[in-house]
Amino acid sequence: MRVLSGIQSSGKLHLGNYLGALKQHIELQNDNDCFFFIANYHALTTVHDPDLARQLTRDVALDYLALGLDPKKAALYRQTDLPQVCELQWILSCVTGKGLLERAVSYKDKLEKGLQASMGLFCYPILQAADILIVEADWVPVGKDQVQHIEMTADMAGYFNNTFGGGEEILKIPKARLNQAFTVPGIDGQKMSKSYGNAIDLFDTPKRTKKRIMGIVTDSTPVEDPKDPTTCNVFAMLSLMADEDEMTEWRERYRAGGMGYGDVKKRLAERFEEMFGSARERRAELEQDETFVEDVLVDGAKRAKAIAEPLMEKVRNACGLRTAALPSDKLLS
Ligand code: ADP
Ligand code: TRP
Repeated sequence: MRVLSGIQSSGKLHLGNYLGALKQHIELQNDNDCFFFIANYHALTTVHDPDLARQLTRDVALDYLALGLDPKKAALYRQTDLPQVCELQWILSCVTGKGLLERAVSYKDKLEKGLQASMGLFCYPILQAADILIVEADWVPVGKDQVQHIEMTADMAGYFNNTFGGGEEILKIPKARLNQAFTVPGIDGQKMSKSYGNAIDLFDTPKRTKKRIMGIVTDSTPVEDPKDPTTCNVFAMLSLMADEDEMTEWRERYRAGGMGYGDVKKRLAERFEEMFGSARERRAELEQDETFVEDVLVDGAKRAKAIAEPLMEKVRNACGLRTAALPSDKLLS
């Protein structure tokens, strides 16, 4: 299956991003034809500092590679290295009704969070559709919050095919593949999110990470009293990271009383190190290598372009944008 997914370079990646997105992406690389990209055009809806934009783009690439993305198996690229997505976005916007975008839940959520209602933010799902359609993806692994965008992508591909396909499916209709359906809680118990200031970053220093974990909000049940694992944030986070046998033991310890929240927090900090300690070291090494990450991204973009450019040529022809028979490589060079 051709798999595509992307992640915005709009902040440091956190545990929620890993468990809800990157982990599944990396697992899929073994049995699929995978394309993963850094959505730095999308990030421009919120990041308006050029140095920060550059840094965050490189950070996402380093994170993916440190966490186990193998560039020999999966193509990793920067969205901006595939400018055909912007061209396709325009074409899709000409067959997509404004009403479809007005129904986008994530747009409304972002306005509620106080983001500026720019056209970029409003048209965000069209750019996302172009990302997906341009590599002819079958599957798009995403979190629950993104499923509507994939359904909108399928709608937009349908509008295009009906308008310009002449009975042919020029744009392939993709499907969402839901990552684990859980939401990772933040240190305050709300959904972990970079915009809520409640995240545990994946690659902070060990000391700061531990401090963050020890600061997870718990209730004030005294040490000796029984505790309810089902309402505890630390328990919820640990269950996403530890195996079932271990969680059964913790469940019993909670219910028996005599256990302080500090004990389970210490175990969570230890588990975090087990999961991410070696990736942190790998990341530090990769960071020293000036050319490796760049080479990976350029190669990834080449692989994506090899699919995108022939498809765009079909698309341009289908909608009458090619009026002379000039081959596209002449026009683009
Ligand atoms: P944030 O809320 O920090 O801005 P994004 O919206 O950029 O995160 O999310 C990027 C990806 O990570 C999405 O696929 C989303 O589903 C996933 N993700 C983000 N936060 C969580 C979370 N708390 N639990 C599970 N998945 C998450
Ligand atoms: N909107 C996605 C998010 O916020 C990021 C994204 C952009 C994406 N383009 C995509 C995800 C294409 C999947 C496919 O997480």
